[in-house]
Amino acid sequence: MPYLQTIFNELIDSYIDNKVGIAKDFLSAPLASNLKANLMSLLATNQLLSAGTGNDTKVVHDQLYRSDSIYWLDRKHNDPHENDFFDLMDQFVEHLNRTCYTGITGYEFHYALYQSGSFYKKHFDQFRNNSSRQYSMIMYLNTNWTSGDGGELRIHNTDHEQDIAPTNGKSVFFKSSELEHEVLLTNKPRMSVTGWLKVG
Ligand code: OGA
Ligand code: NI
Repeated sequence: MPYLQTIFNELIDSYIDNKVGIAKDFLSAPLASNLKANLMSLLATNQLLSAGTGNDTKVVHDQLYRSDSIYWLDRKHNDPHENDFFDLMDQFVEHLNRTCYTGITGYEFHYALYQSGSFYKKHFDQFRNNSSRQYSMIMYLNTNWTSGDGGELRIHNTDHEQDIAPTNGKSVFFKSSELEHEVLLTNKPRMSVTGWLKVG
């Protein structure tokens, strides 16, 4: 089986078994490194925005709730690495729709930077007045991450908590309306590309 399909199935099969899909090497090392370089240059040129909560009609900037900064990816940027990322996502969505009949018709992704001391309190990813977000998907861009660095993604299942380290190239995948989760305080800059697969 082609390598990408093996990785896609790893993510989907672990999602089906555990409600949280994890694939350790979803992003290739070069792609992860190129996206990280993009994020660093967005930071250096002051293009990151403090992230809000809520939807477009009412964005609230509450640093006590989440303290990351973000930048939306877009094919219109004509950035080769963003386009490589979108090509990968197009293949994943095609595979997911074909094997699981998910009917995904779109997506949105942003870079996220959690500076040292940042976090994102417990939340769901679906907006109350808009259910277009079906699946949450996060890809991490952090080399040399160790347990003392914090910044774990904590998934709150009904009967247990699961902490996931944001290690380089890893992807996490879950149903947006289903799992409450948070980002624990990070002791080091923590980088990712985060987004949602959508319907409608
Ligand atoms: C989010 C989120 C988790 C992570 O952006 O909604 O929960 O691990 N991110 O970055
Ligand atoms: Ni979230």
